[in-house]
Amino acid sequence: MKIGIVTGGGDCPGLNAVIRSVAKTAAKRGWETLGIIGGFDGLLAPQNYRVLDYKALDGLLVRGGTILGTANRGQFSAKTGHGETRQLPKELLDATKQGMADLGISALVSVGGDGSLSIAQQMHEAGIPIVGVPKTIDNDLAATTITFGFDSAVACATDALDRLHTTAESHNRVMVLEVMGRYAGWIALYAGLAGGADVILIPEIPFHYESICTAVTERAKKGKHFTLIIAAEGAKPAGGDYVTAGAQQQNREARLGGIGAVVAAEVEKRTGKETRVMVLGHLQRGGSPTFMDRVLCTLFGAKAVELITEGRFGRMVAHNGKFVESVPLAEATGRLRTVPLDEGFVHATRSLGICLGD
Ligand code: F6P
Repeated sequence: MKIGIVTGGGDCPGLNAVIRSVAKTAAKRGWETLGIIGGFDGLLAPQNYRVLDYKALDGLLVRGGTILGTANRGQFSAKTGHGETRQLPKELLDATKQGMADLGISALVSVGGDGSLSIAQQMHEAGIPIVGVPKTIDNDLAATTITFGFDSAVACATDALDRLHTTAESHNRVMVLEVMGRYAGWIALYAGLAGGADVILIPEIPFHYESICTAVTERAKKGKHFTLIIAAEGAKPAGGDYVTAGAQQQNREARLGGIGAVVAAEVEKRTGKETRVMVLGHLQRGGSPTFMDRVLCTLFGAKAVELITEGRFGRMVAHNGKFVESVPLAEATGRLRTVPLDEGFVHATRSLGICLGD
C-alpha cells in the first residue's frame, strides 16, 4: 500500500515531525509514503513527490518548516474569510483523483489549518480517501483542544516579551508586541500571561484606548514607569476594523498587520510616554518545534495512519484535552475556537488586574 502526505496553508513548527511520524508508522505496517511537493497543487503534476523512506526522515523531528513545501494560494485555495469556503470545481477534484491514481496512492493525509482541512472535506465528499491533521499556530480549530505549532509560537512570543521587558524597564518605555492571531487571541493571551504583559489585546475583545492608557498611567502612579502591551494582529478598537497589510488577493484572506503600530502611536499621543513597537511576524512560524509540539505531532501522525488502517476516512485527528481521538472533518472545519470570554483564562487575567482593553 502507498499513501501520500500533503502539507497546506501557512507553515509552522512541527510539520516535519508529523511527516516523520506518518512515514515511520506507515513503514512499520509495510507501506510506502510519498510526500507531495508544494501543497495540493503537487497532486496535479505526478513528478512532484518525494519518497519518504527512512533516509528521507533523518533529522525531521526537530526541523522547522516543511520539507514538502506548502502553499496558501494556488488552484486549491479554499478559504476566503471567516467561515467562507470556496467550492472546488469538479474538474479539479477529478484531476486530483487522477493524480493520486497515477502515483498509486490509495489514501492521503492532509496536514493543515481550516483552509486545507476544508479542502480535505471536499475531497472526502468527492470520494477521495483522506484524513486530516490539525495545524495552526493560531490554535483556533473548534474540534481539537490544541493544534500543533501553537506551543512553539507561544514559546517564541514569550521569549520576545521577556526581552522587551528588560529594555522597556531600562528606558521607562511602553513596548507593544504584535503577534499573530487572526480571529483568535490564543497566542497573545498565553504569551501575555507567560511573559507578564500588562495589557493583552485580542480579537475577541474590542478595545478602548482610554482603558489601555489608564493601565499605563496607573502603573506609573505605582512607580512602574514601563508597560508591556501584547496585541494579536486581529485586535481592533471598539467600533473600528482590522488593520490590514496590503490589498486582499483573490481567493485568499486579507493579510493582517499593523495594529501594534497604531496602538503604539495612540498610546504615545495620549499618555506622553515614549513608546516602541515590535512585530514578531514570521519568527513565530519558523524554527524548531518545542518538545510539546514534537510529542503532539508524533501522536497526531501515528493516529492519522491508524485512521487509514481502519478505513475511517473523512476524519481529522484531534486532541480532546486528555487523549488523541478523531472527529469528522465536516465538524472540524468552518468553526473556529476563539477565546471564550466567560471562562477561566479571561477571568484569571482580569483577576490579576491585567488590562484586556475593555
Ligand atoms: O493562520 C495562521 C497565520 O499565522 C495567521 O495568524 C496570519 O494572519 C497568517 O497565518 C499569515 O499568513 P502569511 O504567511 O500568508 O502572511
